[in-house]
Amino acid sequence: MNAPLISPSILSADFACLGEEVRAIDAAGCDWIHIDVMDGHYVPNLTIGPGVVKALRPHTDKPFDVHLMVSPVDNWLESFADAGADIITVHPEAGPHIHRTVQAIRALGKKAGVSLNPATPAKMLDYLIEEIDLVLVMSVNPGFGGQSFISSQLRKIEAIRKMIDKTGRDIHLEVDGGVDPATARQCVDAGADVLVAGSATFRGGPDRYAANIAALKGLA
Ligand code: DX5
Ligand code: ZN
Repeated sequence: MNAPLISPSILSADFACLGEEVRAIDAAGCDWIHIDVMDGHYVPNLTIGPGVVKALRPHTDKPFDVHLMVSPVDNWLESFADAGADIITVHPEAGPHIHRTVQAIRALGKKAGVSLNPATPAKMLDYLIEEIDLVLVMSVNPGFGGQSFISSQLRKIEAIRKMIDKTGRDIHLEVDGGVDPATARQCVDAGADVLVAGSATFRGGPDRYAANIAALKGLA
């Protein structure tokens, strides 16, 4: 089995020195950088805007995996694309026309992701799967780092892996929330190929990042 790609969520980084933190996880062997954008409306937390994404862009060449927990979202797509996002992931629950939103992301030349909350069924993807580059399964309710993994999502990951394989397209299956080395293994066994990890990457400080990432990949 291939090691999963690791996309550390910088929500758990030290916000007083985000540039350094991004350079440190890059050097520690992460694959992507997961940026959680929260608007205090769709989710009960307020985090990062396009200005911060733009400021971080010169600090790494690794793909920016931007997770928008914003409603309404359509007016923000261009700003995040311009700021340096490579993948833009949105929630169908956060707007009335997810298909249109996905088309808009692709028209900006970016990869489009769709994120499903814990209570949202895989079926939501039936008429979207052919149009997207990534599915993000939320294994916690969005809003905060450091929550516990919701195990029922493993069944959803398995179901989505089957849907993806049926398309024959190269679509990433990413899991976000409560991922640690133990749940990482379960996610990969269920069919995930990208894992977001905030607490499990940043715990212990910069000296631990490489070991933490290796453990998430199942290499340590
Ligand atoms: C939650 C965010 C996650 C979160 C992950 O809304 O989308 O990316 O920061 O944090 P951990 O890995 O600590 O659960
Ligand atoms: Zn996220």
